[in-house]
Amino acid sequence: MGLGLLTLPAVLLLLCGRRTECTDPDITTNAVYMSEKTVILSCNLSVNSLIVSGHRWLKGSKVLHEDKDTSNVMTYNVTGLPGDGSGQYTCEFLTTPDVRMVVNVSVSPQVLHLKASEHGNEGDTGVLTCQSNSFPPVTDWAWYIVSPNAVEVIGNGSSDRYVIKSTGNQTVLRISNVDIEKDQNEYTCNATNELGTGGDVIHFKVRSRLAALWPFLGIVGEVVVLVTIIFIYEKRRKPDEVCEDEDSATGALKSNSGANNDNLRQRNSN
Ligand SMILES: *[C@@H]1O[C@H](CO)[C@@H](O)[C@H](O)[C@H]1NC(C)=O
Ligand SMILES: *[C@@H]1O[C@H](CO)[C@@H](O)[C@H](O)[C@H]1NC(C)=O
Ligand SMILES: *[C@@H]1O[C@H](CO)[C@@H](O)[C@H](O)[C@H]1NC(C)=O
Ligand SMILES: *[C@@H]1O[C@H](CO)[C@@H](O)[C@H](O)[C@H]1NC(C)=O
Ligand SMILES: *[C@@H]1O[C@H](CO)[C@@H](O)[C@H](O)[C@H]1NC(C)=O
Ligand SMILES: *[C@@H]1O[C@H](CO)[C@@H](O)[C@H](O)[C@H]1NC(C)=O
Repeated sequence: MGLGLLTLPAVLLLLCGRRTECTDPDITTNAVYMSEKTVILSCNLSVNSLIVSGHRWLKGSKVLHEDKDTSNVMTYNVTGLPGDGSGQYTCEFLTTPDVRMVVNVSVSPQVLHLKASEHGNEGDTGVLTCQSNSFPPVTDWAWYIVSPNAVEVIGNGSSDRYVIKSTGNQTVLRISNVDIEKDQNEYTCNATNELGTGGDVIHFKVRSRLAALWPFLGIVGEVVVLVTIIFIYEKRRKPDEVCEDEDSATGALKSNSGANNDNLRQRNSN
């Protein structure tokens, strides 16, 4: 009998000692949607024998809020749905030991592209990326080319120029040897989780080889113009070589007047 009494607290301690896994069956949770963007989470501790010295809300391992309130009910307003708000929230009653419960805020996938439009040079590899931070995690990614009259599914198998790598919250489509006529399209990436599907569109623009050369040609052009200007300027300066002043216009005037003065001086000395 004595042994039975001793083992019960030991088992409880073991369960709650591993901080991450300790959830209390005496906490009831609730999530009330105030709007599409806001949900109020609440946790209700039904055991009155525990002395509550405060509350703590976490998202994952990040502490969102902490207070010293002693009530058996704690609430938290989640805003910014469906974008950043979804995830796993934990309510923690500061008792001895702490008791906590996880509340899931789930949404269908919200997909973000890294860039609304991507550019690729003809012949190079185009890289298109989509991400989703939504909870629950994405289970399937799919890529499509959407044109006014058709939707074409893109996969690893549909062309040896496509390689798709999907790792949980991200998918990357690589198109090798980009073709200006075939590959300049609108690409849709769709993500699916247990709540539904969400997607995004990326415009892929292909630059011709020549266009890729333009900046280089521009620089060459600038150099040619500069060299020509310097050359012409130098040629024009040649006849005035006598003048040593930097400013050619006033220099010419000064040297003229200087020559006159010299003439005068010479005349005077004569
Ligand atoms: C908390 O739970 C108790 C018992 O389960 C219930 O009587 C009480 O109304 C609940 N309080 C809130 C704010 O939900
Ligand atoms: C949470 O939302 C409720 C209802 O909109 C509001 O009454 C309450 O003040 C909000 N709490 C916080 C901390 O913003
Ligand atoms: C919360 O999400 C996790 C992970 O998807 C799942 O294992 C768990 O059962 C969910 N909890 C509830 C109460 O739905
Ligand atoms: C995607 O998941 C990885 C690993 O889980 C994480 O490090 C990264 O921050 C996540 N990226 C986004 C955009 O959520
Ligand atoms: C596509 O192929 C690449 C390598 O060939 C592989 O790493 C990737 O997982 C494949 N993607 C899919 C969706 O099967
Ligand atoms: C991709 O997902 C969107 C929802 O965001 C849906 O309307 C569309 O039909 C899906 N596209 C395909 C080809 O399944």
